[in-house]
Amino acid sequence: MMKGFKRLALALCAASPAAAIAAGGTTYGYITGTVKDIKLGGAMSGVTITDGRQSVTTSGNGSYTLKEAAGSTYTLKASTPGYQTTWQISSVTANVSTIVDWALTPAYGTQPIPAANMRYAVFSWNDLGMHCDQDDYSYFMVLPPYNTLHVQVMDRSADALVTSGITVSYSFPKKTNSTLHTNFWSYASQYGFNVAPNVGITGSPLAGTMHLDANGLGFVAEGIPITPYDDDGTWDPYGTAVITVKDAAGNVLQTTNVVAPVSTEMMCVNCHAASNPQLDILQRHDQHQGTTLAADQSKGIVHACSECHPDNALGRAGKPGVENLSLAMHNFHKDKMAATSTAVSTTPDCYNCHPGPKTQCMRGIMFRAGKSCHDCHGDMSWMASSLQNGRRDWLDEPKCGGCHDAKHAENSGTLYRNSILSNAPNSLMNGKLYCEACHNSTHGELTTANAADPTIPQQLQGDSYWIWNCTVCHANKTIQQMHR
Ligand code: HEC
Ligand code: HEC
Ligand code: HEC
Ligand code: HEC
Ligand code: HEC
Ligand code: HEC
Ligand code: HEC
Repeated sequence: MMKGFKRLALALCAASPAAAIAAGGTTYGYITGTVKDIKLGGAMSGVTITDGRQSVTTSGNGSYTLKEAAGSTYTLKASTPGYQTTWQISSVTANVSTIVDWALTPAYGTQPIPAANMRYAVFSWNDLGMHCDQDDYSYFMVLPPYNTLHVQVMDRSADALVTSGITVSYSFPKKTNSTLHTNFWSYASQYGFNVAPNVGITGSPLAGTMHLDANGLGFVAEGIPITPYDDDGTWDPYGTAVITVKDAAGNVLQTTNVVAPVSTEMMCVNCHAASNPQLDILQRHDQHQGTTLAADQSKGIVHACSECHPDNALGRAGKPGVENLSLAMHNFHKDKMAATSTAVSTTPDCYNCHPGPKTQCMRGIMFRAGKSCHDCHGDMSWMASSLQNGRRDWLDEPKCGGCHDAKHAENSGTLYRNSILSNAPNSLMNGKLYCEACHNSTHGELTTANAADPTIPQQLQGDSYWIWNCTVCHANKTIQQMHR
């Protein structure tokens, strides 16, 4: 499902389609770009770029150009000694130069792995890489406090995943009382949730036991209601969860630490800068739509946006005929992004509402390679028009396979976060491991710019890469390519 996916392709010189057809026979286009070192940023010369048929090497300033027959999609490979080999796909249009830039990661080290001394290797990750909630729910609710953690447990000596005979629990040593930092539970029932304080909307407490996931491959706790604040008030949107795995007798088999990102940094205030931004938002809505949200609020009646606007994040149908919340927000605001100088100087522009200038939710390896929200999601206009053209909010999102090659793509029709490795080195390994178990969540893909992310590769592998070392999971296997 590629609908709504914005491929990074830049037409340098616009082609006349008529000319392309009139030329007859083969028409050509170009793939061009530069290669740099992801860590040092410097241009890299002598890197081989190949499409499988022809190769070029980058020049002194790191640039290259390939002339290709138009109308096809090419799988390009970049390789050079001392760096990881990497792939990107690109389609070629007649007489157009499509830019494909590269940022190469230094090759893995040869350090001994800490997991060699462990029987159990525990993998854990957050599903989205960032969740948004609010400090104050006394005016309206966009999204409730909600975080989801996954775990997979590998028995290294048995070469097998463990999914029974163990209990897996989670806790947040520094986040034990969310009511200190959000008034969500004072209003939860008005927003349609019947939950006690410190319990999430699906019933998960701040510390508890995880249950087997829908695929029976690992363990999950959905909707944990943490906030970005520690109990002592410290602001930490990248707080740590402790995962504990015990056997049936209650003996601890293994523990690990994993980040659970959450932020309230929606900068509506950048433009709704009246003395009370939340009230301003309701008043504007009332003025334009004839609703009575502000008057209701003054009487103590609060509304969830999803009461009227359908929202797949919450599985809510809204009211018939009202557009979904994502469409309403991105479409209405797409021509208001220059409303104030603060908004204009916020980059990427998405950080006006998504967390954010301080939180920096986008921190994964694509960020380090120079990509931004727009390269994957498109701009505000695309966010809106893709929804109008049938993209489903929250369900149809960008794809790894949209930039990398077919060997490194999601399962068909499946989000990255739900996809499972299916071209592993051994067929017995297919269908067992979530992409995120090795690569971490979207927006925080290893290797990331945030030191809170790589706790597990550090613990098991002794570095901050994605999981690449076969012996992290198997006591005895020869290291080789992971995706076949
Ligand atoms: C067992 C760990 C593991 C799992 C699970 C895994 N990967 Fe990978 N992935 C790797 C390793 C190691 C590499 C480095 C290149 C290679 O071995 O192919 C990699 C490389 C990649 C790359 C970069 C390719 C490039 O062009 O440089 C992408 C994209 C990727 N994986 C996507 C996925 C997706 C999508 C899934 C799930 C369907 C997944 N991976 C599951 C270990 C894993
Ligand atoms: C907008 C295009 C784009 C998308 C979408 C994308 N990537 Fe990447 N990715 C890159 C670029 C560019 C690099 C830098 C290396 C390169 O130039 O190929 C990279 C590098 C990587 C690497 C390091 C590869 C290596 O061996 O150096 C991994 C791993 C990776 N991506 C995984 C993913 C995963 C997982 C997803 C999906 C969640 C994803 N990528 C989606 C463009 C993309
Ligand atoms: C880049 C500037 C900007 C940001 C950031 C921003 N808004 Fe707005 N918003 C506007 C402008 C301008 C209006 C129209 C004001 C008017 O003319 O009445 C508006 C109007 C609205 C309306 C009324 C729409 C209608 O027609 O009913 C809502 C609701 C709204 N904003 C919600 C939000 C929320 C929630 C956030 C934060 C998540 C936010 N806005 C962030 C600029 C912004
Ligand atoms: C009582 C029902 C109701 C509630 C609650 C509600 N809306 Fe709306 N909203 C509407 C209706 C009706 C429209 C106009 C028709 C449409 O957009 O489909 C609208 C329009 C909008 C628009 C303008 C869309 C456009 O393109 O002109 C924005 C933005 C918006 N709503 C945001 C919000 C946000 C944010 C919230 C929560 C703070 C919210 N709404 C709560 C009913 C509601
Ligand atoms: C004016 C505020 C605002 C701005 C600016 C904004 N967003 Fe959003 N966005 C929202 C809100 C509010 C939601 C949550 C809607 C919901 O709960 O479904 C959302 C949801 C999303 C979603 C998930 C829903 C979907 O359509 O799949 C994506 C993806 C997204 N935004 C991307 C972006 C990108 C990319 C940008 C920058 C080009 C951006 N947003 C800028 C307010 C904004
Ligand atoms: C390298 C590509 C890439 C970049 C860059 C990127 N995203 Fe995403 N984004 C994704 C993918 C892939 C998903 C779907 C993840 C999933 O759920 O499997 C996604 C999902 C989302 C969602 C829906 C919730 C979720 O996590 O599933 C929001 C909101 C969002 N992105 C906002 C942003 C914003 C804002 C930025 C920039 C600050 C950004 N993204 C940058 C690839 C990207
Ligand atoms: C993140 C953990 C993980 C990593 C890393 C990993 N594997 Fe596996 N492997 C598994 C799982 C899970 C199975 C399936 C075991 C089962 O059937 O329950 C498996 C099964 C296998 C099997 C078949 C079972 C056996 O006992 O021989 C082989 C061979 C294998 N893997 C080779 C590799 C190689 C080679 C690598 C490195 C390229 C690798 N694995 C990396 C988790 C991993």
